[in-house]
Amino acid sequence: MNPKEPDQYSQAGLPTWEQPVRPEPASVTGTPAPSGPVDPSRRTFVAGSAALGAATLLTRPAAAQASDETAPALVAVTLRVNGVARSLQLDPRTSLLDTLREHLGLTGTKKTCNQGACGACTVHVDGVRINSCLTLAVMHDGQAVTTVEGLSQGDALHPMQAAFIAHDGFQCGYCTSGQIMSGVACIREGHAGSEAEIREWMSGNLCRCGCYNGILAAVKDVKENHAGV
Ligand code: FES
Ligand code: FES
Repeated sequence: MNPKEPDQYSQAGLPTWEQPVRPEPASVTGTPAPSGPVDPSRRTFVAGSAALGAATLLTRPAAAQASDETAPALVAVTLRVNGVARSLQLDPRTSLLDTLREHLGLTGTKKTCNQGACGACTVHVDGVRINSCLTLAVMHDGQAVTTVEGLSQGDALHPMQAAFIAHDGFQCGYCTSGQIMSGVACIREGHAGSEAEIREWMSGNLCRCGCYNGILAAVKDVKENHAGV
């Protein structure tokens, strides 16, 4: 799944590995924050959303009942997650990401785009990094899954986790677990030989906060100073 071309992000004006920019705050740019009366179109949108929500609530019982009747039978799935065997009964349509977050309570792996575009949900399956939102748990029956929770040894952080802190590799932190998992894999794959190579092979992991320089420094540091990551 990695690396990917984050075209839709760059087209949307969001920071990417190629454009590690952060928007300047209004106090720096001198651009005043929007003020004044709310645009009528926004009022219309909010009113429409409220009406839609009410309609959804009214129709939900019937829809939920229909969905219960058509739901497929649960299937048994066993995953070895962070070294521990976990046996589950799952709807076969459950993504690996939802299995980790909703069924196993491992919320370190983040759901952001849920469509394979951002890398926030990156985990390792049998040592290979994948976007867990794009795959079903049943497809990994019997396989080993490592999440960000599985990198540390008790209270001792993994070198990549420590490097992200040392190099200021995050701001809001939402992309961070995916970046860390991808950074570790990037080194193990032999794709961290230069700054350009790291940027290329981390390009499937996007950061809305634009912390790319810190992330790059962290991966470089671990590559150069920690053997056998
Ligand atoms: S949440 Fe999976 S790639 Fe964005
Ligand atoms: S998205 Fe906020 S730190 Fe990356």
